[in-house]
Amino acid sequence: MSHGSSPTPLTTSTSSALTGTIRVPGDKSISHRALMFGALAVGRTTVSGLLESEDVLATAAAMRAVGAKIEKQSDGSYVIDGVGLGSLLEPEGVIDFGNAGTGVRLTMGIFGTHDIAATFVGDASLSKRPMGRVLDPLRDMGTNVIARAGDRLPASIRGAKQPLPLTYRVPMPSAQVKSAVLLAGLNCPGETTVIEPIATRDHTEKMLAGFGADINVSVNEAGERVIKLQGQPELKPQDIDVPSDPSSAAFPMVAALIVPGSDITIENVMLNEHRTGLFTTLIEMGGNIEYLNKRSAGGEEVADIRVRHSQLKGITVPAKRAPSMIDEYPVLAVAAAFAEGDTFMPGLDELRVKESDRLAAVARGLEANGIPCVETEDTLTVTGGANNIGGGTVVTHLDHRIAMSFLVLGMAAHKPVTVDDGAVIATSFPSFTPLFADMGATIQGTSGEAA
Ligand code: S3P
Repeated sequence: MSHGSSPTPLTTSTSSALTGTIRVPGDKSISHRALMFGALAVGRTTVSGLLESEDVLATAAAMRAVGAKIEKQSDGSYVIDGVGLGSLLEPEGVIDFGNAGTGVRLTMGIFGTHDIAATFVGDASLSKRPMGRVLDPLRDMGTNVIARAGDRLPASIRGAKQPLPLTYRVPMPSAQVKSAVLLAGLNCPGETTVIEPIATRDHTEKMLAGFGADINVSVNEAGERVIKLQGQPELKPQDIDVPSDPSSAAFPMVAALIVPGSDITIENVMLNEHRTGLFTTLIEMGGNIEYLNKRSAGGEEVADIRVRHSQLKGITVPAKRAPSMIDEYPVLAVAAAFAEGDTFMPGLDELRVKESDRLAAVARGLEANGIPCVETEDTLTVTGGANNIGGGTVVTHLDHRIAMSFLVLGMAAHKPVTVDDGAVIATSFPSFTPLFADMGATIQGTSGEAA
């Protein structure tokens, strides 16, 4: 896993036009959940298009540790023989989630209402991230927790013997917290209710319904989403086809917008409305982005997306759009560096607790490359159109999206851009380098060879 491997600096320099039809890997959120829900079902779930990245493989290992059988087939698909809700075995060793926040938080939810003990560890990035946001509601459901100060990893839990269902209003816009409570609710008797004042990605709700859980989503008078889950369902195995990850599509999309002459098509990208805030924003900025062949696949709308180089203009990104593009602000900041005028991004407080403090990491990366920006506690303003940008080395802080975003910057900057560690990209997008090479970009290692 990336926390154990040595840093691999990577550099990009001004690219010629990017062209071609590409496919980015499967969606990370859906891949984690497919493995988890398959493990909780009774019978055989099949998954095609699973994202085979370090984060997702850590979740597969965690599900194996509690008794699920997960195997890759010769056609590339995965089969999961579920162990069944309520029947999880106690893991024999420590569960190492590497860099994966979604993996560890959702798994804590699942284990927290099973009568098993488990210890979770992660890399230096994950060990800094707050786990109290899921451990607090789990404590209310009966989970015992011992964690490092501030509820940081390593943490051990002893799942509740007699778990209690909860009604929980999620205090921050977080699909991980919502999901952890719902997944804990699966093994509780009675009804678990999660109230979401600000809507976040709904993969847990949609996929649990697909697996046969009794889950109901409504909107109350205050406009909050109210999710009611009846506990102890028998989850039925599913055949899941994972669509391409819009958060990974974001990188070639922005690269094509900013590299002159580019014209690419990204196939089979998921268009879930809670995930496409960046696409909306880039279109508002003047991006030439077309959705082709819109269709439905596995309960989600997908499309092939054609993107052509465009002169972008700066805008104000509505704060309420943040949950639908929460992982995309680093690469949006890169697009903004090539827009006319200022791009103002408010409502970014959650960026402080991602794989890195992403607001600070982006601002330092822009500054290192001569791009004017202003960072406040929860906003970023980027001024586009500066001359002679690039030439800097960006500190990635074990954050895959910082690494990928600044490699995209280098493709359109005047001078090369280096990221201090490209190995972290494997957490979500292992094929990043060859895929960009196919489109005509060059990503080089320290000795100047193509990476
Ligand atoms: C995710 C939710 C988001 C997102 C993460 C994946 C998920 O995190 O940043 O990459 O799959 O539920 P938060 O829920 O912490 O905002």
